Amino acid sequence: MAKKNQTLGEFIIENQSAFKYTSGELSRLINSIRLAAKVVNHEVNKAGLVDIIGAVGETNIQGEDQQKLDVYANDIFIETLTNRNIVCGIASEEEDDFITVNSQDENHQNKYVVLIDPLDGSSNIDVNVSVGTIFSIYRRVTPVGTPVQMEDFLQKGSQQVAAGYVVYGTSTMLVYTTGHGVNGFTLNPAIGTFYLSHPEMQFPEDGKIYSVNEGNYIHFPQGVKNYIKYCQEEDGDRPYTSRYIGSLVSDFHRNMIKGGIYMYPKSSKNFDGKLRLLYECNPMAFLAEQANGKASDGVQRILDIEPKELHQRVPFFCGSKNMVEKAEEFMRK
Ligand code: AHG
Ligand code: MN
Ligand code: MN
Repeated sequence: MAKKNQTLGEFIIENQSAFKYTSGELSRLINSIRLAAKVVNHEVNKAGLVDIIGAVGETNIQGEDQQKLDVYANDIFIETLTNRNIVCGIASEEEDDFITVNSQDENHQNKYVVLIDPLDGSSNIDVNVSVGTIFSIYRRVTPVGTPVQMEDFLQKGSQQVAAGYVVYGTSTMLVYTTGHGVNGFTLNPAIGTFYLSHPEMQFPEDGKIYSVNEGNYIHFPQGVKNYIKYCQEEDGDRPYTSRYIGSLVSDFHRNMIKGGIYMYPKSSKNFDGKLRLLYECNPMAFLAEQANGKASDGVQRILDIEPKELHQRVPFFCGSKNMVEKAEEFMRK
């Protein structure tokens, strides 16, 4: 049972028995993500000091090389997970291929793979706007004791055992699910501890916010254009409000709390949309469904899509149930 003020560490231990498999491995894995999130948070918070501590490609006064934050976040998550020997493989939006993790003493004994978007909303880094990290966890399907294979990563979203995100916003929060609802933890930066601040998060069934990059409007399919016009019409609780941050994590987070829909449709420029099925859409879809929301590619449930490749893109409609259903209705017409 979620108790406010509980720390994330306490929560993980207390809820371990709720997992289908209780070897403690998944708990250790989430603990590693918690740690990496704190390290990345520290760096994200310093991003504005670039003129003072050195820009990308330079060496700073302490002799450290300054990296782009997305590269940094990628390295930290991969390093943290590999050093703890806690997963058998990692796939990242920032890497062309998946990474096989093996330690000499324990030959491919780990059962989980992690897929990450280490820094989501990267266009916002230089302008002090919220960014995030998204993660998705599966049990491997190939036998333990052998190197991880592509098929361990190309599983349907419905097979996820856990997923979540970190939002580096006005506060830093870690929000995740293991298939028993969604809980949000806020970092107290003074002591470096995440506290349960948002137990059992739920999307309101209806909302009044729509989030889409309307700069692409003329390239959208007619159904999407019609739905956007519907959002703007004067009728009942409409017009809705438009809010688009450009970080999926932040837009999703706001919509989950206030009620809303996020859309990244296909367009005549990007036939499959822009977002990545494995690193962005599946984890967000799992969270959405666990929080009474909905996620679709416009026609079918995101979590039912059979992935074909690691970096596959897919149109994405996600948020309050009634809003996503309404958008689907317009796209069917
Ligand atoms: P990333 O920074 O990981 O590449 O992801 C950015 C994604 C998503 O977070 C955001 O909503 C969307 O791309 C913004 O795209 P547009 O600038 O095309 O609207
Ligand atoms: Mn992203
Ligand atoms: Mn990214």
